[in-house]
Amino acid sequence: MRFIKTVLCAFAAAAAVGAAQAQAYPTKPITWIVPFAAGGPTDALARSIAERVARELGQPIVIDNSAGAGGTIGAAKAARATPDGYTMLVGHMGYMGAAPALYKKLSYDPVKDFEPVFRFPDTPLVLMVRKEHPARNIEGLIDFARKSPDKLFISNAGVGSSSHLIAALVASAANVKVTLVPYKGAGPALVDVIGGQVDGIFDQTNTALPQITESKVRALAVTSKVRLPQLKDVPTLAETVLPGFEASTWYGIYAPRGTPKAVLDKVQQAYLKVMTDKAFTDKMSSQAIQMLPAEQYTGAALGKHTEAEVARWKAVAAKTNISLD
Ligand code: MLT
Repeated sequence: MRFIKTVLCAFAAAAAVGAAQAQAYPTKPITWIVPFAAGGPTDALARSIAERVARELGQPIVIDNSAGAGGTIGAAKAARATPDGYTMLVGHMGYMGAAPALYKKLSYDPVKDFEPVFRFPDTPLVLMVRKEHPARNIEGLIDFARKSPDKLFISNAGVGSSSHLIAALVASAANVKVTLVPYKGAGPALVDVIGGQVDGIFDQTNTALPQITESKVRALAVTSKVRLPQLKDVPTLAETVLPGFEASTWYGIYAPRGTPKAVLDKVQQAYLKVMTDKAFTDKMSSQAIQMLPAEQYTGAALGKHTEAEVARWKAVAAKTNISLD
């Protein structure tokens, strides 16, 4: 009887310490794992949000670029992290949505192994080609791919990344064969389009727009439903070669399963202040990043979205041949 009382007291003491730690959170820097190389759109958007959330929380947020395998290496690292609020994952449609449909041996479950914390705004993508490529528009690029099936090289951020998935879906829908060239992130993948080592890329607007403005690449089409204010002369895929086609990259912050709710609530409160800050929303608009209705930013909404995306991509993979291993 005494033993049971001792154990119960120990549990009660541990629970009290946990609650006190959660209330005091954060007392040291926080790590956000970005599973792509620095310099890409996920890294850029994460850093832009992290600096603002860090100011609200009163502790630095350090970005850990753990790249590879389309982001699944970084996601697995986050799933195994201590659930104390000091390590979180910058999640994304690839490794937190499509990966279960594309990888037979995935070492984490996007739904079971994580607590969804909050969702970022969505980012449309731009199809860009190297300046010297002969294609002057999307129709010309598809015609080129039809005539020279093994001569079109499209870079991406790794198998299962959105730049890979969208390129594979567009090629499949247009019934053309392209060679998909994986990198550790869209940052290095875009550098090789600018340098002419590969022919093109689908890249998110926040990193694509500066390169287009500086005429380092040529924009042929956007994946958004309607044309982007910053690229009025660039048609959508839907109005040209793929009626009804629309795609964007979604993101969100996830904590390892078991992270205390008091910690998650604090991070969510800090984030929601950022989402209503005009300087931030103006910056997002300038990058053609699309703010969402407020109710879609919550952890609960991100959790529902994640489950729906895992199911959707299983259906997509069954219809197309974008399985990876
Ligand atoms: C992708 O899915 O292509 C990623 O967003 C690329 C990146 O952020 O590096």
